[in-house]
Amino acid sequence: MYDVEKIRKDFPMIVNHPELIYFDNGATTYKPQCVIDALTGFYTDYTSNVERGEYSTAIRADQAYAGTRDVIARMINCKPKEIAFLANITAVLNQIAFGLSRELKKGDTILISYAEHASNVLPWFRLKKELGVNIRYIPLDEEGNVIIDELDRMFDDSVRIISLAYVTNVLGSVQPIRKITEIAHKNDALVVVDAAQAIGHLKIDVKDLDVDFLGFSSHKMCGPDGVGVLYGKYELLQKMEPIFLGGGMNARFDIDGNVLLKDAPERFEAGTPHIEGVIGLAAASEYLMNIGLENIHAYENELRSYLIQKMLPLENIEIYNPANPSGPVSFNVKDVFAQDAASYLSTKNICVRSGHHCAKILHNLIGVDQSIRASLYLYNTEVEIDRFVDEVSRITLEETISIFL
Ligand code: ALA
Repeated sequence: MYDVEKIRKDFPMIVNHPELIYFDNGATTYKPQCVIDALTGFYTDYTSNVERGEYSTAIRADQAYAGTRDVIARMINCKPKEIAFLANITAVLNQIAFGLSRELKKGDTILISYAEHASNVLPWFRLKKELGVNIRYIPLDEEGNVIIDELDRMFDDSVRIISLAYVTNVLGSVQPIRKITEIAHKNDALVVVDAAQAIGHLKIDVKDLDVDFLGFSSHKMCGPDGVGVLYGKYELLQKMEPIFLGGGMNARFDIDGNVLLKDAPERFEAGTPHIEGVIGLAAASEYLMNIGLENIHAYENELRSYLIQKMLPLENIEIYNPANPSGPVSFNVKDVFAQDAASYLSTKNICVRSGHHCAKILHNLIGVDQSIRASLYLYNTEVEIDRFVDEVSRITLEETISIFL
């Protein structure tokens, strides 16, 4: 039985700020006490660097840091050695694009979509500029879902990589990744998945999806900021060039410039990592797995349909993704600039994101480049939705102007 009131007590931000309605979970999530305790434990009991010390606190830190690979491997069904820790999903996608660039040449094609976040667009754009690869856009339906039949027809010998969000960050489309990998692999292309908006919201099984690379950020799944996870099939990780070089990732080097890298995953972790962040990520993963990712997904989907059902009758708004079963709800208030509507909601203690949400080519699909995004998570409630919808229903141009007077 899903007990949201019990879950809410685990989050100090909710306990300390009962007045706030936090619907900006697509941007970042609140942290449960167990994650805060994991960070504090490292700072107060065993602060040390990792993979560099022989003393007891350093060994404890080594074990906790390496132990996170086991936890993540359990959560997404891979081997611990297929997990590397970087700074965030942006760092992961940059690593993948530039790491694979050595295998690419002029005329090769990368498939992405209009619904991608900047981090899954700009690195590929740079490869277009520097190497002359082609970027082509996968056809999407009006709510941002990949049209599989049309995707199938896009493949020719030049397609080398398809890189997509699992759940898109504005429209919340859940892409059919299993089907996409089947088509891509039949055509000898690699599949890269940005799971930033999927992780912690639904059960991810990388073996079942058969993806080649996948990445996510810890802070979007109740973990600390500053930690990203890179998953790659081991043989692909071993072949990929690291983009950051330095201590911790090399086995040896000499005065003639000969360098021997460590094996994956360490070769991707140059410099002192975000040790406490990685340890906190293990606590967040255990926390979510204890509740059950399927349970979280089912609860969120129920909440989302409740929100849609309450918003659809409102005459002052336009919703861009009512039919998608999960993910954020994106909308605009008629005649009101998205940021002004969000500022109005802020005066009512409601937190939402507004603007282009880093997805600046999405307007090619939905026709507007600014929207308000309400993104829900495991601790939100129908009572909050009722209050939110009530406030949204009151937004008018006059109301928003009045807050600036
Ligand atoms: N990528 C995050 C978002 O979509 C910050 O809000």
